[in-house]
Amino acid sequence: MAQSLANSVFEEDKQFIAPLYGKANIEFVRGEGSYLFDKNGKKYLDFVAGIAVNALGHQNAAIKKAVEEQMDSFFHISNLYPNFPQVNLAKALLAATGFDKAFFCNSGTEANEGCIKFARKYFDRKGEKNRQKIVTFINSFHGRTFAALSATGQPAIREGFGSMPGDFVHVPWNDVAALKAEVNNDTCAIMLESLAAEGGVMTVSDEMVAAINSLKKEFGCLVIVDEVQAGMGRLGTFLGLQKHGIDADLVSLAKALGGGLPLGAVLLRQKVADQLKAGDHGTTFGGNPVACAVGLAVVNQIAKPEFLANVEARSAQLKAGLEALPVGNVIAAARDEGMMVLSAKGNVLRLLPPLNVSAAECDEALAKLEKAFATATK
Ligand SMILES: Cc1ncc(COP(=O)(O)O)c(C=O)c1O
Repeated sequence: MAQSLANSVFEEDKQFIAPLYGKANIEFVRGEGSYLFDKNGKKYLDFVAGIAVNALGHQNAAIKKAVEEQMDSFFHISNLYPNFPQVNLAKALLAATGFDKAFFCNSGTEANEGCIKFARKYFDRKGEKNRQKIVTFINSFHGRTFAALSATGQPAIREGFGSMPGDFVHVPWNDVAALKAEVNNDTCAIMLESLAAEGGVMTVSDEMVAAINSLKKEFGCLVIVDEVQAGMGRLGTFLGLQKHGIDADLVSLAKALGGGLPLGAVLLRQKVADQLKAGDHGTTFGGNPVACAVGLAVVNQIAKPEFLANVEARSAQLKAGLEALPVGNVIAAARDEGMMVLSAKGNVLRLLPPLNVSAAECDEALAKLEKAFATATK
């Protein structure tokens, strides 16, 4: 085995881990609620939340309890056997969203692959084999496997990987005329995020929602909504599409759903599920019982009206406070102040606090950001 010559985790990471991320030189040793602590005892307000995963913060008691209880019965039995962790989570998700069936997988990328495959299979089984085309958006992000990458409207991240699955077209976000020009009787699906997160935190316009809903009626295509980052309460409703009134047939979920364990889901309308058969798609680990038990604890929290009301209130608090701050590149300055934040699309500051963040923590965030802005723009 290779011997480590270095002693910081940053150096060891460089030595032993494939170089696929630009990583911060920081060693976190503990998380608690909305905070992270590094090995020097420095405390950070965590407004990255594991990239929108830790919606209930670090060390959430309900999540820990769900893990412990499920570990006492079984960790994994495979998808060959029905089990209550999956069924109970499916029931909770379907009750919160009005969808009819759930499929579980391990990640957001896989959830999107599932949506794309189910949409294509739906038309294939109906005998409409011409319906292959999937219309998505420039600057969208749907994941890193081949079909999800093909759906992703960012050519730079496809570069060097050879040919991509075909029949994906990308139109500019919120460009109704461009969307209308691409949707026709050969369209399988329109696929969009309920908020273009990686693409720069861009909300979907009312005009685009109206166009999507009417194109779906006119041409009979499906609508796939990627709720991997914006779903699970982050927009103040359980799904982002509920806030905007998007009429979806398939929804992908992941990130916050597993509370920190790898878990993704596809939610389907009955008409799509009716066209699927055993063997059409599958996964060994997807819907792992421990992950699903945690998922149920997460969904039970997020679906509560008072939880979603807190998201709305904290969002309004942060928005009002941020509007009063000067803009600049503050990520490094914020870290010096003891706060983790992310960027999107280069110059957009992305705040992904735990969804149960308190008013006092938001005040603390605004004070830290004010200092970070002052330092960064000096
Ligand atoms: C909207 C969206 N879809 C899909 C993905 C991919 O999810 P995962 O990294 O879990 O595969 C992401 C990840 O950032 C995302 O933000």
